[in-house]
Amino acid sequence: MLLIFYMIEIKPHLTLVGAGPGDPELFTLKGIKALKAADVVLYDALANDSLLEYCKEDVVKIFVGKRRGSCAFSQEEINHLIVENGLKYGHVVRLKGGDSFVFGRGYEEIEFVRKYNFGVSIVPGISSSIAVPEMQLIPLTARGLNESFWVTTGTTKSGELSKDIAIAAQSSATVVILMAMSKLEEITTIFSTFGKSTTPVAIIQHGTTPKENYLLGTVATIAPLARAKGIDNPAIIVVGDVVNLHPDFLSRNDSIHLFDIS
Ligand SMILES: C[S@@+](CC[C@H](N)C(=O)[O-])C[C@H]1O[C@@H](n2cnc3c(N)ncnc32)[C@H](O)[C@@H]1O
Repeated sequence: MLLIFYMIEIKPHLTLVGAGPGDPELFTLKGIKALKAADVVLYDALANDSLLEYCKEDVVKIFVGKRRGSCAFSQEEINHLIVENGLKYGHVVRLKGGDSFVFGRGYEEIEFVRKYNFGVSIVPGISSSIAVPEMQLIPLTARGLNESFWVTTGTTKSGELSKDIAIAAQSSATVVILMAMSKLEEITTIFSTFGKSTTPVAIIQHGTTPKENYLLGTVATIAPLARAKGIDNPAIIVVGDVVNLHPDFLSRNDSIHLFDIS
């Protein structure tokens, strides 16, 4: 009898998938397809867990985010986990909050796995930087109010406040700041220095999820208000005249009520 042994060759592959801002219905069809094809999923705290239901039953699920009381994995540890699991099982999906290329370190992971001959695919996600203000009816651009928007981080690699915030504060741009709650006082001081104390500000926490919470104020008032109300991460800070278009700022007659399409 002729016995034929097949050697199954594992072809390691990494797919970066943007999980969107939190609402699982704001996930892409391509994202679903990638999850269905995954052998392993490494997912972050900001990626909605319910998306994992699209995976095969025997998928290996590895949580690599930070949750209360637990330590986050370092980027180096995550890079190694991707490689180890890809070489062992094949297709690794890296499921990240929002979009992988917007403060998501997605490119670093691609650069790392390339050294191990991984194939790479990308599925963009809806970034919280745009969707979270949008779902509060704050447009990032509005004709006559501004000509651009900046998406910046509050905290840089070295832990300091980004110098870009002072540059953005001197423009008419809408400034969207991520990862910045610990630097709120410093940020508002900078905007005040450039004569923006009365500019409206919105802070939206857990945007697009049932835990969503928001706060409106001005550059001068927002920091004490946020501390008093305990608004913290994950949150997005929006500074600019477009915040005046939020329904709470409009008169009752002008106000728009947003209905959920579901
Ligand atoms: C490491 S960054 C990742 C951003 C992500 N790649 C994106 O495109 O949305 C994490 C920060 O994004 C913001 N963020 C993400 N999801 C959010 C949400 N649902 N509500 C408010 N802020 C959110 C917070 O500022 C949080 O600290």
